[in-house]
Amino acid sequence: MANNLFNFGMIGLGVMGRNLLLNMADHGFAVVGFDKDAQKTATLESSATPGTQVKGVNTLAEMIQQLEKPRKLMMLVPAGKPVDDVIHDLLPLLEKGDIVIDGGNSHYTDTLRRVNSLQEKGFHFMGVGISGGEQGARTGPSIMPGGDPAAYPHVQPLLEAVAAKVNGSPCVAHLGKGAAGHYVKMVHNGIEYAIMQLISETYDLLHRGLGLENDELHKIYKNWNEGELQSFLVEITKDIFLKKDDKTDNRLVDMILDKAGSKGTGKWTSQDAMDIGVPIPVIDMAVSMRELSSYKEERAQAAVLYKTSTVDIPIPMEVFIQQVQDALYFATILSYAQGLSMLHTASTELDMQIPLPEVVRVWRGGCIIRSSLLEVFYAAFQKNPQLSNLLLDGEIAQLLQAKKQNIRNVIIHAIHMGYPVAGLMAALSYFDAYRSERLPTNLIQAQRDYFGAHTYQRTDGPGTFHTQW
Ligand code: 6PG
Repeated sequence: MANNLFNFGMIGLGVMGRNLLLNMADHGFAVVGFDKDAQKTATLESSATPGTQVKGVNTLAEMIQQLEKPRKLMMLVPAGKPVDDVIHDLLPLLEKGDIVIDGGNSHYTDTLRRVNSLQEKGFHFMGVGISGGEQGARTGPSIMPGGDPAAYPHVQPLLEAVAAKVNGSPCVAHLGKGAAGHYVKMVHNGIEYAIMQLISETYDLLHRGLGLENDELHKIYKNWNEGELQSFLVEITKDIFLKKDDKTDNRLVDMILDKAGSKGTGKWTSQDAMDIGVPIPVIDMAVSMRELSSYKEERAQAAVLYKTSTVDIPIPMEVFIQQVQDALYFATILSYAQGLSMLHTASTELDMQIPLPEVVRVWRGGCIIRSSLLEVFYAAFQKNPQLSNLLLDGEIAQLLQAKKQNIRNVIIHAIHMGYPVAGLMAALSYFDAYRSERLPTNLIQAQRDYFGAHTYQRTDGPGTFHTQW
């Protein structure tokens, strides 16, 4: 450790902050962690790998004094006011050129405000998305830094060392200007919401629909995870079915209340997609279905009012399971396509200059939405870095063409049986609309012109027209 100074500081030693710091130390960096809670600094030091350089301190001043310059420090604290509070406390202690990183899930507009305000004072502020949960932080997360390109080289070696690796390449890259890092992470989470919703719909069809129990479900998702649906989310799903409840004789999944929580990143993705005019209906539907799940009491009342008898699926079970697998594959591609099309637009609309091939490369390992499909998408973006929508890539078109009949079949059966498959339906509807050269929107334009003189364009030439209807 040169001059007894530490290479990197962490503010906030919750599990994520602690694990990321320990990961850095394991890669040879001397690190110092700050938390007001002495118990947390003690835990940090006691959980360090022997021989690594890890120190816990209980005041910010102590941490700042012990960091090499320019200082590089990250906060991992809850989004919102806690981030501003930390910045407020840090400002009097910093020197020009110091680099402050927010590694949490902050809203990108907050990050942009902080980038600008710290820049005026001579400091660098970077919003960095980190995905992979507690385990990922400890062993190799996917890291999505954005912001000042001049600051990035100072933290690049450290971030590359701790990031997950795919084929030896670290899952980190500078992903654009301003708040781009947090924007990319927000959209990552939107896609995460969408895929989780889709998996839950397939679970419903197989469990309630076909009557399959947890051991059988485990086998099905295990089988899927060994094929083209290989992904972190399918992998953990198969494990979830086996977990026993320690309070009863049941499986834990059966004892969990069906009300989904959320911290807001999925909703932010939908809100911002509306603002920049990009359709992402699978993500929107995933957000809505989590909201709907929280209306537990109303759902219980409605279940009595609208009691339905279940209908058997009129095809062999094995055939239906294959159709469900194909439907999930199709709709998962649509979820990524929608999220990435949003990033494509945000890159220019919000002047973030997001390199999409790099985003996809970084998502291939360490993050919650990692999946073997990302290799396919990476190849598509390498062929065409400006690809505005994955659906326009020839290889991906072939994959979707091969599955489109089965997602249709699954939705038809689900409708007959009365099971909600809002995510699957949103994926298929988007697909059907996107591939329609002509939509019925001519009628909407006619209506707008009829009642509001909003004008319309014609199919047979340029110009703007109004008609006295
Ligand atoms: C990740 C996760 C992580 C967090 C989500 C959960 O990439 O590691 O996305 O950031 O678990 O924010 O979000 P919800 O609580 O909204 O589901």
